[in-house]
Parts: sequence; structure tokens; C-alpha cells
Amino acid sequence: MIGRLNHVAIAVPDLDAACAQYRDALGASVGAPQDEPDHGVTVVFVELPNTKIEFLHPLGADSPIAAFLEKNPAGGIHHICYEVDDILTARDRMVETGARVLGSGEPKIGAHGKPVLFLHPKDFMGTLVELEQA
Ligand code: CO
Repeated sequence: MIGRLNHVAIAVPDLDAACAQYRDALGASVGAPQDEPDHGVTVVFVELPNTKIEFLHPLGADSPIAAFLEKNPAGGIHHICYEVDDILTARDRMVETGARVLGSGEPKIGAHGKPVLFLHPKDFMGTLVELEQA
């Protein structure tokens, strides 16, 4: 069912430092920061030939990333995102197989403007999984 790895998201305590490291040390193509107030994050996309890296930095008072960074002050991998053809078919299959869909279970529009769902990390070997309708 799942297709390409769309991105790996890394929570970062210092967005400028993360961008500089990926641009200057790793030689990656690093985009401009985008504020996503609906999601409580500022995101930066790093374009790689086969996938993307998404830096996540807290935005606003109750950002979901703030608690993660409290537990992981140096930053860390926050989630991985797989592409699916149809988000509702994917959601129904997850529910049928016993995986927990976070939130209301209805897709939300993610940082790329496409419908996404998140799956409980305890059902996926400790990894928060995002499904995005490509
Ligand atoms: Co994501």
C-alpha cells in the first residue's frame, strides 16, 4: 500500500544552525523557513535526490514540537512520512488492522497542502508515522 518515502522529519532546537549544517557541511539544497501556525511549527524542507528532510521548529505557545524538544533537547527524528494513493482507503485499512490513527481519525491538510494522517508510534515500533496522499 505505501509508496515512496516522502520525508523524514527532524525536530531541531536551532533552525538556523540546522539549515547551515545541512547547507554548508552536507551540501544540501535547503529551502526557506515557512511558518505553519495551524500546526504550531516552522518548517524547512531540505530537498534530496530521492526524498526530503523536514526540519520542525516550535512556533507559538502550545506547539506539539515543544514537548518533544524538552525530552530531546538536542533534537531528534520526529516522524517519517510515507506516500499513499488514497488517504481514506489507507485510514480504513489501518483501523481494520488494529493500528491507532491519531486525533479525530479524519485527514488534516499537512505542511505540503495535502491530506495527512498520523499513526500511533506504539503501533509502529516506536516511530510516529505520517501517511500523505501523494
Ligand atoms: Co511530516
